[in-house]
Amino acid sequence: MQLLDGVLVSAHIKEQIKQEVKEWQAGGGKQPHLAAVLVGNNPASEAYVGSKVKHCEELGFGSTLVRFDATITEAQLIKEVERLNNDDNVDGILVQLPLPGHISGDSVINAINPDKDVDGFHPISQGRMLLGQPSFLPATPYGIMLMLEYYKISTAGMHCVVIGRSNIVGTPMTILMSRNSDPGNATVTMCHSKTKNLKDFTLNADIIIAAIGRPKYVTADMVKPGAIIIDVGINRIDDATKKSGSRLVGDVDFDNVAPLCSYITPVPKGVGLMTICGLMKNTLLAAKLRTGKK
Ligand code: GUN
Repeated sequence: MQLLDGVLVSAHIKEQIKQEVKEWQAGGGKQPHLAAVLVGNNPASEAYVGSKVKHCEELGFGSTLVRFDATITEAQLIKEVERLNNDDNVDGILVQLPLPGHISGDSVINAINPDKDVDGFHPISQGRMLLGQPSFLPATPYGIMLMLEYYKISTAGMHCVVIGRSNIVGTPMTILMSRNSDPGNATVTMCHSKTKNLKDFTLNADIIIAAIGRPKYVTADMVKPGAIIIDVGINRIDDATKKSGSRLVGDVDFDNVAPLCSYITPVPKGVGLMTICGLMKNTLLAAKLRTGKK
């Protein structure tokens, strides 16, 4: 079994990005700038956004964190997104999800200028991706493709089972894994919470991408020996042995699955770090495209 090491791969990609930003600015390019919008104070969202802003600093990007109380109305939030659309210094906009229940995430995402949609969530970005046109890829699926590329894992002809059908991970993952490209080019089955006899599918999978948001959902009896396991889950569970009283686990029962498979991503230090790489690459690309050079 080989660990797909998010620390190693993200460090390598971040170094490349840092270098590219330096060269871009040395040639007169503008400093890439990411605006992150955070509504309310969900602790997980706070941590994710904090990490994104910190990475901007590390890689030489500018950043703005725009915070709003959970009571902001949908109309007010859309106005704020439009303000960022019109701010020429801002290259990329991300609105951290989930949003409070009274705000439609779709309406807010639809308000983002697709040229600044560095999360790749806008219908235009997703449509372009579906058609195989150049687009901002959603950050997590993009990060997973970068991870496969780094380890030179060619999945052509493999059977890939994606568990989960969210707009931000499961659905785009099925598209990227089934494109006529490398990595990708797999035969893809999408499974989800209503799939009957999930094990019948997963036992036939050469690669499993688990993105269902349930702790240790994929167990050893569901995995074919030698399979590749990509774990997208970040679930907090109680653990009395930890000072904090809890710890993070993925959607895969790592301890029992790892000995069986050929490659596996750990949680933490796996896919989560790759998401940041996807986001930062998109933001740099947005800056370059917006200022007319590639
Ligand atoms: N919530 C969970 N994942 C993501 C992500 O990649 N981007 C944003 N904006 N919100 C998220």
